[in-house]
Amino acid sequence: MIRSKIAGIGMYVPKNVFTNNDLVKYMETSDEWIQERTGIKERRYADRTGETTTTMGVEASKIAIERAGITKDDIDFIVFATLSPDYYFPGCGVLLQRAIQMKDVGALDVRNQCSGFVYALSVADQFIKTGMYKNILVVGAEKHSFGLDFSTRGRNVSVIFGDGAGAVVLQPTDDPNRGILSTHLHSDGANAEILAMYNPGTHANHWIKEQKLADFNEAEIGEMFMSHQMIDKAQLFPNMDGQAVFKVAVEKFPAVIKESLEANNLQTSDLRLLIPHQANLRIAQFVQKKLGLKDDQVYNNIQKYGNTTAASVPIALCEAWQEGKLKEGDLVCLAAFGSGFTWASALLRW
Ligand code: UT7
Repeated sequence: MIRSKIAGIGMYVPKNVFTNNDLVKYMETSDEWIQERTGIKERRYADRTGETTTTMGVEASKIAIERAGITKDDIDFIVFATLSPDYYFPGCGVLLQRAIQMKDVGALDVRNQCSGFVYALSVADQFIKTGMYKNILVVGAEKHSFGLDFSTRGRNVSVIFGDGAGAVVLQPTDDPNRGILSTHLHSDGANAEILAMYNPGTHANHWIKEQKLADFNEAEIGEMFMSHQMIDKAQLFPNMDGQAVFKVAVEKFPAVIKESLEANNLQTSDLRLLIPHQANLRIAQFVQKKLGLKDDQVYNNIQKYGNTTAASVPIALCEAWQEGKLKEGDLVCLAAFGSGFTWASALLRW
């Protein structure tokens, strides 16, 4: 049976380290509050000389391609997950294709926020299993630092996020002891607005409230996509009800991890490593406790990078591997939960 395996993995984080105390210069917060509530000590922010979501994705991709022992010309498909693209459109996939000067292969952007990389991996996995592609580049990258409210008003969101990128090359394998065993994808849009960035967007109804769209002329409707009012009302920043997200996250994370193990007749004790999306150290610790996992079965690095959304899973997986925590055949579970809500897992043998 053909499965897909991770043949090469790479990561990139900006050099610019921003500690919790650096944030205190901009907003009312403290190192103590941030560490106690999130586990985060510092994060990386892109430099100011043109580093973007795409350029970070490019750096991670180059490493993944080299480690897979192939060249850019062998890549036959790109899947790029991000919520912070360089442009509203086109997506980062084509910008990466251009930057690395790849052939005119297909490029797909995935917009699933925190679960974006696991979703992207699942899409790529299907293409490999059907035999359509042989070398797929899967990227998760984010540049949050350009779109956060650094005043006290936005502190519940801005202290959490950081910038970075991770990438893998997926290839087919017929080795029964390697590769992706299964992926599991879920969504529930009932609470889509409690972790969202509303603008720019075409939703108008959110802020027109009682008035009818027919009462507005074209110019006014045009301004609903992007207007000074949005800036004045801080509507161009992410919005989050942290406590509500937390409650659902600690329920869905364990469920989707268990689902992946049960689908393969495996137990939590079989897991070498769980790589949870790095949303909050408290969430990861809660999940670990609920599943009865030992400390060395869960990998966390949110302390150093904050929450890098679509990049967090590949960055953590890459670091765990670089630190020698994974050897061939080890059972690994990747799991993520976030905005949408969407949540997902992938169970694989390294
Ligand atoms: O990856 C995407 C998915 N996202 C998540 O999974 C996030 C899940 N949620 C969380 O991680 C947590 O809810 C947060 C870390 C966002 C917030 O922690 P919390 O323990 O839920 O705090 P809270 O929002 O209930 O706020 C508690 C207090 C409030 O003050 P009052 O009303 O008690 O006086 C906030 O105004 O802490 C205040 N606060 C802050 N204080 C200092 C909120 N943010 C900050 C801050 N610094 N950065």
